[in-house]
Amino acid sequence: MTIAVSERIPSVKFKHIQADGTTVELDTAEVFKGKKMILFGLPGAFTPTCHNQHVPSYVARAEELRAKGIQGVVCMAIGDHWLMRAWADSLGTGDKVMMLADGNGELTRGLGVELDLTGAKMGIRTRRFVAVVNDGVIESIDVEPAGGIEVTGADACLARL
Ligand code: BEZ
Repeated sequence: MTIAVSERIPSVKFKHIQADGTTVELDTAEVFKGKKMILFGLPGAFTPTCHNQHVPSYVARAEELRAKGIQGVVCMAIGDHWLMRAWADSLGTGDKVMMLADGNGELTRGLGVELDLTGAKMGIRTRRFVAVVNDGVIESIDVEPAGGIEVTGADACLARL
């Protein structure tokens, strides 16, 4: 079941390769502490809609999100930290979108946003969703009902803020 509004984001440790190549271990509890942030999830690095539309929408509108009080944008997907670093570099996310590697799928399960793509030989992935997380508490969460990014892309997210 999808995490409910007012619940706290699960505390999950993950590995992250910073822009300078340094690997650090972070915890969602510290990443989201004391800030109003956007967390969006998607099925996979380099997959067509994720790569060509979803992440680019947040990179393009990062300043507008900031102007509306958003202090950070995090994109999560199931995959390792090398994959997510390579994807961040490929898309030039810079400091606009942090690419969180949910290596063990723990955050995906904790948020209740699993997507079974075993039929497509892609295993268990993260459903396309976007949440506003305020000081670690889920303030809103919207799941994409079908294909595309009509509900979870940056345009729709901005319109709801
Ligand atoms: C995509 O286009 O982003 C996508 C394609 C297949 C499975 C999951 C995502």
